[in-house]
Amino acid sequence: MKALTTSLFFLLFCIPLLPNFTAPQILFQGFNWESWKEEGGWYKSLSKCTPQQLASSGITHVWLPPPSHSVSPQGYMPGRLYDLNASRYGNQDELKALINTFHDNGIQSIADIVINHRCAEKKDERGIWCIFEGGTPDDRLDWGPSLICSDDIAYSNGKGNPDTGADFSAAPDIDHINTRVQRELSDWMNWLKTEIGFSGWRFDFVKGYAPEFTKLFVTNTRPSFSVGELWNSLAYGSDGKLEYNQDAHRRALVGWVEGAGGDVTAFDFTTKGILQAAVQGELWRMKDSNGGAPGMIGLSPGKSVTFIDNHDTGSTQNMWPFPSDKVMQGYAYILTHPGIPSIFYDHFFDWGLKEEITKLVAIRLRNGIGPDSALRILASDADLYVAAIDEKIIAKIGPRYDVGNLVPPTYQIATSGNDYCVWEKKAGALLE
Ligand SMILES: *[C@@H]1O[C@H](CO)[C@@H](O)[C@H](O)[C@H]1NC(C)=O
Repeated sequence: MKALTTSLFFLLFCIPLLPNFTAPQILFQGFNWESWKEEGGWYKSLSKCTPQQLASSGITHVWLPPPSHSVSPQGYMPGRLYDLNASRYGNQDELKALINTFHDNGIQSIADIVINHRCAEKKDERGIWCIFEGGTPDDRLDWGPSLICSDDIAYSNGKGNPDTGADFSAAPDIDHINTRVQRELSDWMNWLKTEIGFSGWRFDFVKGYAPEFTKLFVTNTRPSFSVGELWNSLAYGSDGKLEYNQDAHRRALVGWVEGAGGDVTAFDFTTKGILQAAVQGELWRMKDSNGGAPGMIGLSPGKSVTFIDNHDTGSTQNMWPFPSDKVMQGYAYILTHPGIPSIFYDHFFDWGLKEEITKLVAIRLRNGIGPDSALRILASDADLYVAAIDEKIIAKIGPRYDVGNLVPPTYQIATSGNDYCVWEKKAGALLE
């Protein structure tokens, strides 16, 4: 009897907690370019009620800003990696408290890992952070010229191996071939896991070093989830217009994931770029020449993290923004489609789109739509895009109101907004 009770208990309560491949993943970027200015500190401000709000909206992972000391306030020019007290977002104890609160609400925290480059203690006469004075008390990360790439443009004294990726001009590029760099960065990331409580990684500027090093860091640190930022330009014609075919762009993302060992995902910059052009009266872009989705999700949806904007493309940097009046069409697409969708802080909180976005997430979850769900595109005209996902829901974006007979009578509207609509099967429709 006891054994039976125990196994019943195990079946009922333990199995659902084991990791499984169909567990929903909804990411949330928990900051923007100005978050470091928050009075009283960003970590403390997020701690108040954000974890509860995100959890009740179905979010499973939150991406937090780079945690270490940095010579720029946003954190992307890191120096003393173990010093989390000099961050403009708050101190180490506040960060740990925030991560704990997220954890208590069932949300995993993702650290922004900036390891292509590292800033020294002082600027040289050109204003580049490249004068290393060394000297952490225990010798960790006490790196000199031998650990800087020999062909680094900023740091002319680099004595390491040539860079394996693109140069980052504002700070010395680290020699990832050096085994001390590999070991000490892995140790630091494992410390972020065990001591601070992070579960996974968002790898910044992975263009800057070969994908095999991401593979090595993933192998050494075993994150529950990781995603790389490989931001390449899309293809444009000589007239400056976005090309229809963006296969090379999305294949580079898929190739990076493979080179990085296949246990990582990549931000789907292809989908973002095509979608934000398509919603301006060019929805024919949303079907590729094979009839599938034109972005990375059309090739490798399980490895694609879809998004509308982030702290670079949107926020106050606004480098490549989604048309602001069409952002909800963007969310109606990514939250109904294959891939791992992510939501940006600004849209959710500052723009007042929390309710609309949450409804779309709920439809995704209750219909079991996941990264590898099946997509069948029903229409992709200039002013109308309609697709069925898993033959369970139908999503429409675009200004054309009349979808004709594309939506069967067994479906009913689940949610709708400005130029978007989502239908799901009526209860009992499974029997028809
Ligand atoms: C940061 O503060 C925490 C808590 O006071 C402390 O344990 C840690 O050693 C500090 N870190 C550094 C690098 O000073």
